[in-house]
Amino acid sequence: MKSEIIQPNVNLLESMRSVGYSLEAAVADLIDNSITATARNIVIDADVVEGKYVAVLDDGCGMSSEIAREALRLAGATGDRDASDLGRFGLGLKTASLSQARCLTVATKRHEVVTALRWDIDFVRDSGEWLLNVLDKTDTCTLPLWAELNAQPSGTLVVWNDLDLLLGDTTTPGVFLAERLGDVRSSLALVFHRFLADQRGRLNITVNGITLHPIDPFLSGNPKTQRTALETLRIGGADVKVEGFTLPHASALTPEERRRPDLGDGMRDAQGFYIYRNRRLISHGHWYGLAGMNELSKQTRVKVDVPTSLDALWQLDIKKSRTEPPPSFKSRLRQLIDPILDRGHRVHTFRGRTVRTDVAHVWTKLKTREGFLYEVNLDSPLVGSVLSHLDPEDAERIVGLLQTIATTFPVMDAYLEAASNVPVVATRPEREMIIARLRDMHQSGLFDEAPDVALTQLAGVEPFNTIDDLQSLVDFVWKDNHVTE
Ligand SMILES: Nc1ncnc2c1ncn2[C@@H]1O[C@H](COP(=O)(O)OP(=O)(O)OP(=O)(O)O)[C@@H](O)[C@H]1O
Ligand SMILES: [Mg+2]
Repeated sequence: MKSEIIQPNVNLLESMRSVGYSLEAAVADLIDNSITATARNIVIDADVVEGKYVAVLDDGCGMSSEIAREALRLAGATGDRDASDLGRFGLGLKTASLSQARCLTVATKRHEVVTALRWDIDFVRDSGEWLLNVLDKTDTCTLPLWAELNAQPSGTLVVWNDLDLLLGDTTTPGVFLAERLGDVRSSLALVFHRFLADQRGRLNITVNGITLHPIDPFLSGNPKTQRTALETLRIGGADVKVEGFTLPHASALTPEERRRPDLGDGMRDAQGFYIYRNRRLISHGHWYGLAGMNELSKQTRVKVDVPTSLDALWQLDIKKSRTEPPPSFKSRLRQLIDPILDRGHRVHTFRGRTVRTDVAHVWTKLKTREGFLYEVNLDSPLVGSVLSHLDPEDAERIVGLLQTIATTFPVMDAYLEAASNVPVVATRPEREMIIARLRDMHQSGLFDEAPDVALTQLAGVEPFNTIDDLQSLVDFVWKDNHVTE
C-alpha cells in the first residue's frame, strides 16, 4: 500500500466559518486563551463608530514567535496541556475569530519581542495557498490597542477586521455593534463569573470601558438561598462535583437582583444544570431531559463541576457551549436532583408560613375532577366567630358574599403575575383588626377562657399563626374582656 499527501484546500478557512458561533461564544473563546495565559486584565474594545474592528488585549504571558506561528496553525500543536487549560482543540482562536470576521490579526509580546501575524481569508483565497501575513512594525503600530500592548511587559492582542458575518446586512455597523455589546457583557459576566469573583486572583474584564461584575447564577451571597451539601460522583476515574441551589422567592430578592433578566422574566428558562469546566461555564438552561422546565422548579439551579479529563466522555463541543453526560451518569444525576427539585417546589407552596398541617386556613383548596378551586373555609374559627354573632339571615348573607368573592377571585391573573416574578406585596393585618377579631373569638366561646390555652389554640388558626406578638394581644383582649364583662 502506498500513501500520498493530500493537503487541505484553502477553502477550508472559509468553510470553518460556519461552525455556528455566536458573538458571545466567540469572544468567550478568546478570553479562555487569555485566562490560560494567566492574564489578570482583559480589555475588549469594539469600534462602535464605524464597526470596523473588535480587539481583545490581555496582559498574559504572550507568545514567542514560534509559539505564535503554531497558535495560528489550524489544530496547531500545543504540547502537554496543564489541567487548568481552558483550551482543548487547538482551534478556538481561529474558528471563533473567523466565524465573525474575514481577517484575524494576532500581535503578541514576550520577553520584549513582538510578533504580529494575520490570517486574511481573501488573501489566502486569492493566492490559493496557506499564506500567513507577517506584519512589520509600521503595520503593527496602526492596530487598535497597540499602544497599550506596547506599554506592557507581555501580552497578546487579537484584532478582528472586516466583520462580515458579525455585522450581516446592517447599514449602521457602529450602532449595531454598540447594541450587541450589552449581550456580550452579560454573557461574559455569567460565563466567567467565578474568575471575576475570585478573591485570590481576581480577573478584570472591561468591555468598551465598562468593568464587568460577576453574575452569580446561584445567588450565593443572598442569605435566603438554600444549598445542598456538595456531592462528589466518581466517573471514569475522575470526580464530578454537584451542588444544588434553591433560589429565594422573588420577594426576597434585592432590588439589584430583581433587575437581572435571569431572576425576572427569564427565570424559568434559567433553571437547570450549570455545567462548569475548570470553573468556566459551558452550558446551562436545561435538565438534560431529566426534569421538565416547569414553573415550580424555576427556582432550582444545580452546579456541576466536570474535570477536563472527562471532556471526551461528556462530548464537549468545539465552541465549548455544549456537553452531554454519558447515560450512566445521567441516571445518577437524576437521583441527586429529585430531592433538590422537591425543595424548590416548597419555595412556592409553603412560602412564608410555618409548615404545619393542623393550621385552620382561611382559604381551602378543593380538588375536583375538572381541576381545582379555592373556597373560603367556612369552618375556620375566624369565619365562625363572626357568624356566631349574627342572626341566621345575616349569616346566610355573609356566607353568600364570601362564596361570591371566592368564585370571582382572579386566579389566572394572580398566576401570571407570580409567574412573571412580580413580588407579592405581603400586607400584614392591622393591629386594630386583629384585636377586633380576637374579641370576636373570645366572645364566640370557641376558645378557652384561660389566655395561655387560648394562645395555643389560636396559634393553629390563620391569620393569628403569623402574628409575632400574639401572646400580648391575647393577654390584652382576654383581660380587657374580663374587666368589661
Ligand atoms: N491570548 C493568548 N495568550 C497566549 N497564548 C495564546 C493566546 N491565545 C492563543 N494562544 C496560544 O495559541 C494556542 C491556540 O489557541 P486556540 O484557541 O486556537 O486553541 P486552544 O486554546 O489550544 O484550544 P481550543 O480550540 O479548545 O480553544 C493556544 O494553545 C495557546 O498556546
Ligand atoms: Mg482556545
